[in-house]
Amino acid sequence: MDVAAPTLVTATGRAPRRADPCAFVIFGAGGDLTKRLLLPALYNLAAGQLLHEAFAVVGVARAEMSDDDFRQHMRAAVKEFASNGINQRALDGLIGHCRYVRGDFDDPSTYSRLKDELAKVNRTYNTGDSCLFYLATPPDLFAHVARLLGESGLAKEQNGSWRRLIVEKPFGFDLQSACALNKELLASFSERQIYRIDHYLGKETVQNIMVLRFANGMFEPIWNRHHVDHVQITVAETVSVENRGKFYDHTGALRDMVPNHLFQLLALTAMEPPSRFEADAVRTEKLKAIGAIHPLNRESAFADMVRGQYTAGSVKGKPVVAYRDASGVSAQSDTETYVAMRLMIDNWRWAGVPFYLRTGKALAARRTEIAIKFRSAPLALFRDMPVDSLGQNLLILRIQPDEGAALHFNAKIPGPDVRIENVRMNFKYEDYFDAAPSTGYETLIYDCMIGDPMLFQRAVDIEAGWCVVDPILQAWHDAGGRDLYIYPAGSDGPKAADSLLSRSGQQWRPIE
Ligand code: BG6
Repeated sequence: MDVAAPTLVTATGRAPRRADPCAFVIFGAGGDLTKRLLLPALYNLAAGQLLHEAFAVVGVARAEMSDDDFRQHMRAAVKEFASNGINQRALDGLIGHCRYVRGDFDDPSTYSRLKDELAKVNRTYNTGDSCLFYLATPPDLFAHVARLLGESGLAKEQNGSWRRLIVEKPFGFDLQSACALNKELLASFSERQIYRIDHYLGKETVQNIMVLRFANGMFEPIWNRHHVDHVQITVAETVSVENRGKFYDHTGALRDMVPNHLFQLLALTAMEPPSRFEADAVRTEKLKAIGAIHPLNRESAFADMVRGQYTAGSVKGKPVVAYRDASGVSAQSDTETYVAMRLMIDNWRWAGVPFYLRTGKALAARRTEIAIKFRSAPLALFRDMPVDSLGQNLLILRIQPDEGAALHFNAKIPGPDVRIENVRMNFKYEDYFDAAPSTGYETLIYDCMIGDPMLFQRAVDIEAGWCVVDPILQAWHDAGGRDLYIYPAGSDGPKAADSLLSRSGQQWRPIE
């Protein structure tokens, strides 16, 4: 079946041009990320006519495979994981341009074979000798592969070609390891060549935060401490740790979600308008917002943070075993699967406005949203009427699922007396736009191919995120299991998290 081509739209609303000629080299081509996300995303770009004809995919992995075997695997992956029907011509075109190089990532001869293959690919497809190296490997190999790429001369740009490196999450384990990784990558590639991924920035609704704020005149004047009471950022997941126990037990919710995904949402919400819609201008404003978070310390690790761990329960009617009983997890584990926190941003726009963040696994519902709660209107005018209190003025940005935005405000219930009810204006993406088939990686890969780093993190950005959470990681580590609150799978998280808001007379929005 032939299906309609998906479309990407640029910030200016114009259909984008095709990406630049290049070879897309995947280290870890046998892995899950390649199969589930990278190949389907490349296919969606191909179907949307966004890949250049001068393009090739070169998979690198340990398994013994011929080019044809690799092509068969990649074809099956696209068929299984591409979100919509298949455009056969686009798929054949993409698969026909796939090559495979077998090798161990720590063996220099792999890199010399890759070099020969890339020279062949350049001659066959005319890729201009430009290459994008995608590190879809376990994180402990990132530095290793980058170093060997450097040593083999593959990182070198010459005669107008470019060489870029895409690095996946997790980027480091704490501040020290993130700085060390940056240093190692920067020994072989320049900052301009490195594209550090946070897949949240590939989400349309996340990119829309800046458009909502800065392409509308009505929000910016009230987007500050004079009008905003507080902000709640929620990333609730229904999934438990499933088969990731071994990784997760050494990671925990704070590391896994906060300095990256939640801070991206916070930065986009709190940043000042950039002077230009251009990569460094935008990233610098985001960095300033993260840099303005009031420093956390050992006391705030317990006073302004709540950590939790799920125990057995049921999520959406399905039983979930306790975290400590999950495979790969220690039976005495103190690892948090939930974290909630109260942050203050020390700048003129936000002084005194708490930002509440929370994320957790095995919660009642899957919901990512940013809720801006505005200051209430004075009740005085309505005091003598049958009105006890006024409902909240909230702007909710629904990142996923049910993508959209809603405004909650008060309205008069029709009738002779003045009675007031809180009502909602609701915008849903699906009512206005045809969703392009998407894995969330298309824009990120495309931007990397055209050399636009706006949606990627620089070394300083990554380090700024770790810098905020590092004292908490340390304090929690030293405290063992102290104040680790248990919550049943399928709930809204530990009750203890309520106290972060109730001190100021506020409460969390329900998760379901
Ligand atoms: C990943 C985390 O970075 O993001 C996972 O490692 C988490 O633990 C995932 O489940 C959430 O991503 P999304 O796009 O499903 O919200």
